[in-house]
Amino acid sequence: MKVLLTGASGFVGSHVLESLCARSIATRILLRPKSDRGFLTNSLSSVEVANGSITEPESLRNAMGGVTHVIHCAGCTKSVAIKGFYEVNQTGTRNVVEAVNTGGTGVRRLVHVSSQAAGGPASADHPAREDDLPQPISEYGKSKLAGEMEVRQGCRTDFAIVRPPAVYGPRDRGFYSLFQAVQHHLRPQPSAPKALSLVYVEDLAEAITRCLDLPAATRQTYYACASEVVTGLQMADVVARQMKRWTIPMPLPAAVLWPACAFQDLLARLTRKARLLNLAKYPELRAHGWVCSGAKLERDFGWSCKTGLEAGVSKTLRWYRENHWL
Ligand SMILES: NC(=O)c1ccc[n+]([C@@H]2O[C@H](COP(=O)([O-])OP(=O)(O)OC[C@H]3O[C@@H](n4cnc5c(N)ncnc54)[C@H](OP(=O)(O)O)[C@@H]3O)[C@@H](O)[C@H]2O)c1
Repeated sequence: MKVLLTGASGFVGSHVLESLCARSIATRILLRPKSDRGFLTNSLSSVEVANGSITEPESLRNAMGGVTHVIHCAGCTKSVAIKGFYEVNQTGTRNVVEAVNTGGTGVRRLVHVSSQAAGGPASADHPAREDDLPQPISEYGKSKLAGEMEVRQGCRTDFAIVRPPAVYGPRDRGFYSLFQAVQHHLRPQPSAPKALSLVYVEDLAEAITRCLDLPAATRQTYYACASEVVTGLQMADVVARQMKRWTIPMPLPAAVLWPACAFQDLLARLTRKARLLNLAKYPELRAHGWVCSGAKLERDFGWSCKTGLEAGVSKTLRWYRENHWL
């Protein structure tokens, strides 16, 4: 087996790469000239590097040589302009699929990393399942669903699609702002979503790598999440307790959230630098719940998320401290 991994320089991709290296799977990673190599220090010496971008089809075709499996983890999670989501998550995925299709008979399976955002919100009473009609509510989610459709309709080889919910763990910049707030004695109290599924990044990386060759994964879609359902309030409480910080509750009602998103959106446009909070993200923050069921993955693979919230927050906090993020 030889794997081509896209998105290796990112949060999730760098953990997928470490999971591949731990299994001694020969791996080539696709990097752009300006890709940050900071998360790759442990693994760069043991992999091949192909220079290119998923928005440059020629570079993708070159990167496919001799590869038997592809993990497509590159994606756009924040963008100054809406078209940025579609250029990477839809067109970029189409380019990956075309390179897989034209790469001779070499590639045996494509594992595509999508998102729960492609399926849309769901409550704890009715967690999202793979057979539900997708109802994405944000441009990010719509672009991820469009990427899934490129795979389902265009891929002539075997494929599997993994939909993670919110991912946390070492190197994450999303939940990092919560840890920073607690460091500054603030405990954010979002009014929505009411319930969340999460997945610890190392568990997700294991699920993604296991999708490479398990026969049951053929042309299947899987939610990969912990069985624990949490609220934003609970998450903030766990972080505050583990950081041993006294905190002042900081209510975040919708009336505050929208102006905050609008302000960050304006800053992004002025500085041309995408930010985590933005108006395209606002519908996701207002959703009633983001809960999904990992039952299908457990049934087909015997996979379940090993790391609960307490242990996951503890490992994440240790990493932030050891790496001077906090
Ligand atoms: N983080 C989450 O909570 C979460 C939840 C659900 C699903 N996901 C999905 O997981 C995947 C990874 O997300 P992440 O959180 O790890 O994001 P991230 O840290 O922002 O990493 C994104 C990765 O994609 C690469 N990339 C972007 N545009 C590219 C292009 N045109 N050509 C080649 N590479 C490109 C980036 O490379 P550069 O270093 O060159 O920019 C980077 O390696 C995405 O598909 C995302 O939709 C993430």
